[in-house]
Amino acid sequence: MDRRAFLRSSCLGCAGLTLGAGVLSLTGCASLPLVKVVSDGSTLSIPLSAFTESTQVIARASKLSYDVLVIKLPGGDFRSLYLRCTHEDQPLTATATGLHCPSHGSRFALDGSVKEGPATTPIRPFPVRREGELLIIQLTA
Ligand code: FES
Repeated sequence: MDRRAFLRSSCLGCAGLTLGAGVLSLTGCASLPLVKVVSDGSTLSIPLSAFTESTQVIARASKLSYDVLVIKLPGGDFRSLYLRCTHEDQPLTATATGLHCPSHGSRFALDGSVKEGPATTPIRPFPVRREGELLIIQLTA
């Protein structure tokens, strides 16, 4: 194999590895849909269309330090939980069945209650209201 053929095959291999790693990382974090939203600092607005494929959505706004999990409940109401651990304020990982803190292992139910410590304080849900085709999440009291 000459030098040019070697470089060409090496580059194709690297591109394949990079693409494969990208797909793996997307599928690895794609257990719940991520929706980028705009926040004015006191509210989040999420289109109801974000829930056509899933009853749980992770909302991410550049102004917020943590993501917000928004859950469509069986009766049609919505619940939202700030994905900040109540133990030492680390980000929580959301799955379809609950929340987990990778820092020290706390686990929370999807209603925000503590299932396993060291956290002892539940996650307080944010109030959610509908306005037309939008969900408005009130981030402050
Ligand atoms: S910060 Fe979450 S368990 Fe400690």
